[in-house]
Amino acid sequence: MPLKVEPILPRFGAVCSGLDLTRKLTEDEVRQVTDAMDTWGVTVWRDTHMSDADHVEFSRNFGYLERVPRREGVKFRLPFPELFDASNLNVDGEVTQDPAAIQYRKGDRLWHTDSAFMEKRTSYSLLLAHEVPPEGGETSFADTRSAYEDLPQEMKDFLEDKVGINSLWWSRKMAGADIPDEEIEERPRAKHPLVHVHKGSGRKALFIAAHTMDVEGMPREEGRALIRQLIEHCTQPQYTFSVKWNAGDMVIWDNLCSMHRGGEYAYDTYKRDMRRTTVREGTEPHTMDMGDDPFSQLFAKSPRVVDIQGARVAGR
Ligand code: OGA
Ligand code: MN
Repeated sequence: MPLKVEPILPRFGAVCSGLDLTRKLTEDEVRQVTDAMDTWGVTVWRDTHMSDADHVEFSRNFGYLERVPRREGVKFRLPFPELFDASNLNVDGEVTQDPAAIQYRKGDRLWHTDSAFMEKRTSYSLLLAHEVPPEGGETSFADTRSAYEDLPQEMKDFLEDKVGINSLWWSRKMAGADIPDEEIEERPRAKHPLVHVHKGSGRKALFIAAHTMDVEGMPREEGRALIRQLIEHCTQPQYTFSVKWNAGDMVIWDNLCSMHRGGEYAYDTYKRDMRRTTVREGTEPHTMDMGDDPFSQLFAKSPRVVDIQGARVAGR
């Protein structure tokens, strides 16, 4: 049965059905998925019945999966190192009351692209809902290809050689965490061009995120104003849509041609159990080891305010 694809916006986002994602896909089926992703940037798959193992296995069709950073004394709720925990739960599966964990997740409610703060970018993110609150917690997506195409020519010319400087600590500060400027300065950052050609479609896209702190070579305030202006441009209603989740739904987004953000919900009351795999750009399907561990490296220095995983064993 061929993949069924129902567009959400005229050029962005589609609801896909007709494939059983719990079983091994043929090469042709995988190509149908990547074709849909290249065209639509975000695909929504309802009621997948996928387990954690299915989720990881299916994700491997698209390249190497990044691993959650490991640190001594940190225990994980989820059974695979490839599953990033985007929930509001602690290691025991209860709604977390840890202020650091709550603060960390607030960063997801700013428009962003996953891993923009890493040198090795993420292509697809695959987010699977296991439990959702009765209301709220929608995820919104923005089309950075169409938004780029609609920019005035002078702006396109201006952006052509501009490079963004991205920092995880910056985005967490923007989300309200109390992080001193000196700490942001001493933490790693990653440079990425603000405009790039999206390989799968040949269309140009903006590559910006809440992590984008400065524009190389521009005075700080001007660069920051430009980043704000571009994020506002991309997130106008004609470029965006939201997904309301049910348990079992999966959304795949291509970070290289979209931005996203989480929606508000009563995070201190309801469980919202979301698990994500993250594909490294330009890697071969089913690569099990890249011989590096950049996320653990990023967090090698003991964390202060920013911690990608809220569940600390000490102090439980
Ligand atoms: C993510 C993310 C938002 C959400 O998992 O990368 O930004 O709505 N999630 O859970
Ligand atoms: Mn995200």
